[in-house]
Amino acid sequence: MKVIITGGAGYIGSHVCLAVHRSGHTPVIIDNFSNSSPACVRRLGELIDDVVECHNVDVCDAGMLNDVFAAVLPGAVIHCAGLKAVGESFADPLHYYEKNILGAVNVLRAMDVVGTSRVIFSSSATVYGDPEYLPYDEQHRLAPENPYGRTKLFIEHLIHDWDKAGKNRSAVLLRYFNPIGAHPSGLIGEDPNDFPNNLMPYILDVAAGKRPDLKVFGDDYQTPDGTGVRDYIHVEDLADGHVAALGYAVRHTGVGTFNLGTGRGYSVLEVIAAFERASNRQIPYEVVARRAGDIAEFFADASKASETFGWSPNRDLDRMCADAWNWRVKNPNGYSE
Ligand code: UD1
Repeated sequence: MKVIITGGAGYIGSHVCLAVHRSGHTPVIIDNFSNSSPACVRRLGELIDDVVECHNVDVCDAGMLNDVFAAVLPGAVIHCAGLKAVGESFADPLHYYEKNILGAVNVLRAMDVVGTSRVIFSSSATVYGDPEYLPYDEQHRLAPENPYGRTKLFIEHLIHDWDKAGKNRSAVLLRYFNPIGAHPSGLIGEDPNDFPNNLMPYILDVAAGKRPDLKVFGDDYQTPDGTGVRDYIHVEDLADGHVAALGYAVRHTGVGTFNLGTGRGYSVLEVIAAFERASNRQIPYEVVARRAGDIAEFFADASKASETFGWSPNRDLDRMCADAWNWRVKNPNGYSE
């Protein structure tokens, strides 16, 4: 089956492409390269020893999107394309609503035109907001606290409504926790366009000597060592979760919602220590004020995905750090060759 992966040249999408290929399906990428590189598509080709079909199209361009769908006739769509920087979403919320929501509407409409009935959507744990209890299970109240998170939640609602409006549709909403790491080949990985906002890309910059030290955002949280705790998941495990979800979508109709996390939280200091072990480098750090909008601690109850479609992550934090560092060492400038 051909599977369209929107945002397939991005950090998560590219690993999803490989997993889809490994599972025997044919990935077809749609990407506008706004935060990704054509070099990634070439690398994917090296990894699967074949040319990966890729269309340079913005999901907000309905006309071009429909043309690609008509040519590909996908059996399913994995919709990863979207904007994802929390700070930017506060600064320019209209841009976030426009790009993320219009993109999703266009993808669903393009599916309808060609009769594709299965969609997997990249949602985020950010839809839960401040934890009422932990671990978050899928029943947890939904109250995202930033415009980016609200676009994810609105798209979840949109997909529920789309599903109800037709027969035999199936959708899987995947709520990602904190993906880090890279493919073990070191050929694909995360290549942030500008200043790294997230922890691991920043650590990689410090380890590589590009920045002097890591700023740890607060050590006075109600957590074992006072620093923020997150559920980091290897991007390869996350990608495998999409394939498991795809199998589920083939066998079921209706909408299923699943957390993709490990169920285990690590503090910033624990991540630093694991990274130092994996890389043999020191990560100097300085504790600074809390980052506005940060939550002290969150992690997943990941049992539903395991019980429902047999997916469970198996790569530990040391492996996540080792693979992230391997990617960085082999590509000091990311995809710029
Ligand atoms: C952030 C977003 C989240 C989004 C996710 C995507 C915010 C508030 N949340 O999640 O909505 O889905 O990225 O991956 O931006 N940290 C430092 N120093 C740094 C960077 C991070 O101490 O330079 C700490 C943070 O305070 C946090 C942990 O590291 O405790 C993880 O941060 P990050 O990687 O940015 O992820 P989230 O904040 O969980």
